[in-house]
Amino acid sequence: MGIILRTEGLTKRFGGLIAVNNVSMEVEEKKLSMIIGPNGSGKTTLINSISGFLPIDGGRVYFKGKDITNLPPHKRVDVGLTRTFQIPSPFGKLTVLDNLLTSYRFNPGEKLYYSIFRSKWRKVEEEVVEKALRILKLLNLYHLKDARANTLSGGQLKLLEIGRALMTDADTILMDEPVGGVNPTLAHEIFRHIKNLIENHDKTFLIIEHRLEVAKEYVDHVYAMSMGRIIAEGTPDEVLNDKRVIESYLGTVVV
Ligand SMILES: Nc1ncnc2c1ncn2[C@@H]1O[C@H](COP(=O)(O)OP(=O)(O)OP(=O)(O)O)[C@@H](O)[C@H]1O
Ligand SMILES: [Mg+2]
Repeated sequence: MGIILRTEGLTKRFGGLIAVNNVSMEVEEKKLSMIIGPNGSGKTTLINSISGFLPIDGGRVYFKGKDITNLPPHKRVDVGLTRTFQIPSPFGKLTVLDNLLTSYRFNPGEKLYYSIFRSKWRKVEEEVVEKALRILKLLNLYHLKDARANTLSGGQLKLLEIGRALMTDADTILMDEPVGGVNPTLAHEIFRHIKNLIENHDKTFLIIEHRLEVAKEYVDHVYAMSMGRIIAEGTPDEVLNDKRVIESYLGTVVV
């Protein structure tokens, strides 16, 4: 097992506010790593910075040993790093299946090739649809393939987001609150899906989650953030019992 994702001194400011302050972290491949921290501690900003959705003010991001600091988000997706958002954003009027199909990314060269050799298109389309159906089966969404996305429950939407991420062939998926606003039973189901993807499909997940008590049994490694910094990391038990983490949640931070 190795380190697949690494940041070095990552820093992001909003005017005078340092939202992410000199964060160096290492994410192990084929594990479920989790970022916790009180509201406003910089969790989303950290994910946005790693995925390239926000320009950073300092530091570097390495993925699979390569410096990706200057790559735009879609180029990071091309090398296998993708992310989902705190509020799922599917195309509500499209079906579940179509939502997956729209997430498929052709390589630029491939696109040109297939537009020249039109007969190849059909085969590729079939393969992409098959892939989408496979992913829907994996996530127990197959029976909803023809339903419009805006008829799904909160939990199903979160699964759809994971499905869309899988369509990009990402091996590392960053998720902002994958079980946020979802009841505990469904939250456990979503975590079981994530665990299955890690153990049987070689995926790596780095997720933000508030409710450590729900996530605890699935998570391998936890980072606790407070005021833009990582103040503790380790197993869920280690981090939950860390004095600085407890204090950060109570509002009196000792760094
Ligand atoms: N686009 C922005 N412009 C200005 N300030 C921002 C922006 N985005 C975030 N911030 C500020 O940066 C800090 C970190 O915010 P961030 O959203 O990363 O926190 P978070 O840990 O994800 O919080 P939550 O648990 O509420 O989702 C906060 O003080 C927030 O107000
Ligand atoms: Mg957030």
